[in-house]
Amino acid sequence: MKQTTFLSDSDNNLNVCARALSNGELVAFPTETVYGLGAIANCDSAVAAIFEAKKRPSFNPLIVHVSSISDAKKIVQFNERAEELAASFWPGALTMVLPRLNDCGISLLVSAGLDSIAIRVPTHPLAQKLLAKTAHPIAAPSANRSGEISPTTAAHVVRSFSQISMQHNIIILDGGACEVGLESSVVDLTGEQSVLLRPGGVTSESIEAVIGELKFAASENCAPKSPGMLSRHYAPKTPLRLNAHSINEGELLLGFGPTQQKVTFNLSESGNLVQAAANLFAMLHDLDLKTPSGIAVMPIPLEGLGLAINDRLKRAISPKTEN
Ligand code: TXA
Ligand code: MG
Repeated sequence: MKQTTFLSDSDNNLNVCARALSNGELVAFPTETVYGLGAIANCDSAVAAIFEAKKRPSFNPLIVHVSSISDAKKIVQFNERAEELAASFWPGALTMVLPRLNDCGISLLVSAGLDSIAIRVPTHPLAQKLLAKTAHPIAAPSANRSGEISPTTAAHVVRSFSQISMQHNIIILDGGACEVGLESSVVDLTGEQSVLLRPGGVTSESIEAVIGELKFAASENCAPKSPGMLSRHYAPKTPLRLNAHSINEGELLLGFGPTQQKVTFNLSESGNLVQAAANLFAMLHDLDLKTPSGIAVMPIPLEGLGLAINDRLKRAISPKTEN
């Protein structure tokens, strides 16, 4: 059984993390969205270690993190929409799926058999420093075991990996709580029509304001292309009940907005969706630890970041599938 090692964000520790990554080891690090489980993206064995540690199905591709637009252009083929989106939202919580360049040097395992790569430039200063010190693109899915809720603190990462048997050590770089709290929005730009594969930290309204109408992957006539969209995902161990106005026996209530109900936590008392997104995973983690018989969640409006919040909640209640 291998172990997790916890490091504070000193300059020296960043050097330790960069060296570990360069040696093909795994480092969990903070981004503005959620913590990522990183490995250098051009090394097959390092990328394979991510899949092993997360128990992630090998057909589910990974996001590559780079420091700049120009670094992204060494890996994927940009088009006009990609240029516009990068100029508007990078660095930030937007991932673009684009054709991979033949000579990009990225491990084929990252693409999981597809001829595309999902890529983003994170804004978190520690993620940026790590990329600069490592001087390699970093492949990183969220730093949780497959199917669990994404981590928004270093403690969540430790909790997810500490009690399982792994073949690899994981260094965890502690950068405090993630500001956005939801994963990045994933947009597929490989076809004529731009497709929102996963709603996330950048709202679909603001993406559409830049590149025009988006097709939603979950909608009819659009086969799901993001393997991570297929399965139950982001699930706490406790059963969830959505759009609840009051609680049943044994349940705890996760509130939203002003309410007379007795809530255990409120995602945002004022009904602010940005605040609710930042709190969602941490509150689900904490409610789960209280081991109630159920978690009831009050309705959250389907607009702005509410789309991504509702997406994660719906995925958490969908039945388990083979993957
Ligand atoms: O905010 C985030 O995106 C975080 C931080 C660490 O960057 N990462 C993250 O990664 O959430 P992950 O692996 O948990 O989710 C990546 C999603 C999955 O649904 C995956 O299927 C999809 O992106 N994806 C990755 N590469 C793809 C590709 N080439 N084509 C289509 N979907 C892809
Ligand atoms: Mg994930």
